[in-house]
Amino acid sequence: MSVDPPLFQLSEVGSTQNWLKERHRQSWLPHGAAVFADIQTEGRGRPGNRWTHRPGNLAMSILLHSDPAGTTFPWTLVVAHVVLSILEQTVGSGFGIKYPNDLYWMEPEAKVGGILVESSGEGSYFVGVGLNRQDPELPGAGAMIRKGRPLPPDPIELPKRLQEALLSPEGFAGIEPGLSNHLLWKDQWVVWSLPEGPGMGKVQGLDERGHLKLLFPDDASGTLPVQVRGIRKIDP
Ligand code: BTN
Repeated sequence: MSVDPPLFQLSEVGSTQNWLKERHRQSWLPHGAAVFADIQTEGRGRPGNRWTHRPGNLAMSILLHSDPAGTTFPWTLVVAHVVLSILEQTVGSGFGIKYPNDLYWMEPEAKVGGILVESSGEGSYFVGVGLNRQDPELPGAGAMIRKGRPLPPDPIELPKRLQEALLSPEGFAGIEPGLSNHLLWKDQWVVWSLPEGPGMGKVQGLDERGHLKLLFPDDASGTLPVQVRGIRKIDP
C-alpha cells in the first residue's frame, strides 16, 4: 500500500529547504514529502545568494528520493517544466526558463522564480522552489507576476499541484521540446563563467541530458552543463 507523502504547511520558517533537511534527518520522510511556508525569513538561493520572500509568494521544498522517471533530464529542468506548465494553466502563457534554474516572465524580461536543487549525497534531492507574486525588496532578486493575473489565490493550491505533478506516475518523457521552446534567449548570444573560464555562445536548445546546446563564435557547437551558475545575454 502506498501512502501519500506529507505536505507540511508552516506559518513561518527560516528556510523551507533547511527545515526539510532537518526534519528528514530527525525522522525519515518518503519520496515527495514537501513543505511550504507563509513567511520565510532566511531563504537561500543558489550558493552565496539570499532569496527574498514576501507573504503571498511561494516558498516550497520537496524531497525526492530518485532521479526523474522517464527522462535523462535533471530535477532542475523537470521542476522548471512542471512549474511552467502550472503557471500556463493558472496564469497564462508568457513564462520561460533562463538556463538553468531561473523562471522568467519573458516580455518584459523579469525573474519570477528560482529553483534550488541540493543533493543529499545519498541519491536523494532537496528541491526548493521560490515563486514571486509580490515585488521582493532586493533589486534583481525577482519580479512581480504580471499585474492582474496573479498566482492562484488559495495558498495551498500551488504547493499541492506542484507536489502532485512531481509525483506523476507517467514520468517526464517527452518534455524536451516544450522546455526548449520556453528557453530564454534562443538564437541570442550569451556569456557564462565556469571554473575553467568564461565562455560565449549562441543558445540553440537542450540536448538529451538537459545540457544547453550552443553555437560558439568559431562555428563549432557544444554544450553547457546545468552546473553553470547562470548565463547572461550580450550584444555580440
Ligand atoms: C535561485 O534563484 O537562486 C533559487 C531560489 C530558490 C528559493 C527557494 S524558496 C523555497 C526554498 N527555500 C529556500 O531557502 N530556498 C528555496
